[in-house]
Amino acid sequence: MRLTVIGTGYVGAVHAACMADIGHEVLGVDIDAERIAALTSGRPPFYEPGLSEMLMKAVDTGRLSFTTSLTEAAWFGDTHFVCVGTPQRPASGAADLRHVEAAVDGLAPYLHDSGYERVLVVGKSTVPVGTADRLTRRLHAVAPYADIAWNPEFLREGCAVQDTLRPERIVVGARSEQAVARLRELYAPLLDAGTPFIGTDPATAELVKLASNSFLATKISFINAMAEICDATGADVLTLAEAMGRDSRIGPRFLAPGLGFGGSCLPKDIRAFTALAEELGLGESVAFIRQVDEINTRQRLRTVHLAQRLVGGSFADRSVAVLGAAFKPHSDDVRDSPALAVADEIRLRGARVRVHDPEAVDNARAAHPALQFALDVAKACEQADVVLHLTEWPQYRELDPAALATVVRTPAIVDARNTLDPVAWHSAGWTLRALGRPR
Ligand code: UGA
Repeated sequence: MRLTVIGTGYVGAVHAACMADIGHEVLGVDIDAERIAALTSGRPPFYEPGLSEMLMKAVDTGRLSFTTSLTEAAWFGDTHFVCVGTPQRPASGAADLRHVEAAVDGLAPYLHDSGYERVLVVGKSTVPVGTADRLTRRLHAVAPYADIAWNPEFLREGCAVQDTLRPERIVVGARSEQAVARLRELYAPLLDAGTPFIGTDPATAELVKLASNSFLATKISFINAMAEICDATGADVLTLAEAMGRDSRIGPRFLAPGLGFGGSCLPKDIRAFTALAEELGLGESVAFIRQVDEINTRQRLRTVHLAQRLVGGSFADRSVAVLGAAFKPHSDDVRDSPALAVADEIRLRGARVRVHDPEAVDNARAAHPALQFALDVAKACEQADVVLHLTEWPQYRELDPAALATVVRTPAIVDARNTLDPVAWHSAGWTLRALGRPR
């Protein structure tokens, strides 16, 4: 099938490459000419395991090409995926739909020229409930023969290729049988491999995404609230999480206590969900989500306080090493990174902060120019009064505490992700502190 993918950010670039990989002819579209030039030569604009190889292959075989022209996109195929961003509005927290509307408005006037029977615009962006119906009215004013369907994206950064090729479900919300049939055909290789397909109305499809991300965020904040209780009672949140997670109704995933969630999705989506519910007059139904957000942000300050106690109460003239800048491991994304929020706060409190990350240093430096960066862990830790482990890259688990103890000024570490082995660090002479864990 011939399809286009409008917006080549995280979701779009991965979707375009994966659709080409399963045999479709794909045209990726973006207004950013520099990004299009990079993608055309097979280079992804961000770090994502496996994407580079897949992109290169798809471009080489000629199944994937790129353009900056929506006119060209309208001519290229009859199915158009909209994968542009829906950032948070600064004042209300609601989703800003400007880019989605621009994509649909830009495409609409050219659609009748495409020469295809029925045109399908498929939204993948995370949007408030009601967006698909609103866009349909907008689109029909110009192109009455075009349908809109909503097909939310559930991929996780760091496993985006695997999540796209082997998703746990495909959800499609549409008002026409043809739209559902088209998407079933398009995803046939995935469905044949056993992926469940959930066909529904657009409102439910839009809601699935907001509800799922809100649930995941709630799970994380729940265990972090338990960590606060553990701190006050001497209980151990790691054992608590393990014991809770063994109940198959609860499950162990997204129950890892620590510094909490960040990134471009969970924080933005829970705020957009709250804004949407308030607009519907249903603020009370999701009032707990505000607390989920507050509990999450609080973990950053709790981590700062833990470190501050370790350096004797004040950061003035202290050297602090930060391990991790990305919002999570296997990613170079620093958007709303809890690690960098902590690093910044400590710097503002007077410390000299040196940050290490295996992949995200360039992005971190661009977003936080006042911080200092080091290209290896030992350099970051040189003469440090305290080390903060803030993003759980696997290589940090492999660090040799004895060797690192010879580099720092004081062997003290905050394990804000609860993935280091406390016994190994203690026996190498370190003081190790973590949220929700007894000393
Ligand atoms: C999230 C969802 O997991 C995806 O399903 C969704 O498609 C995506 O948002 C999106 O809306 O586009 P992502 O932001 O890539 O994916 O990252 P996650 O793996 O969900 O992690 C989010 C944050 O939660 C990270 O900062 C991570 O460190 C934190 N986290 C995760 C915890 O603090 N504890 C946990 O137990 C799990």
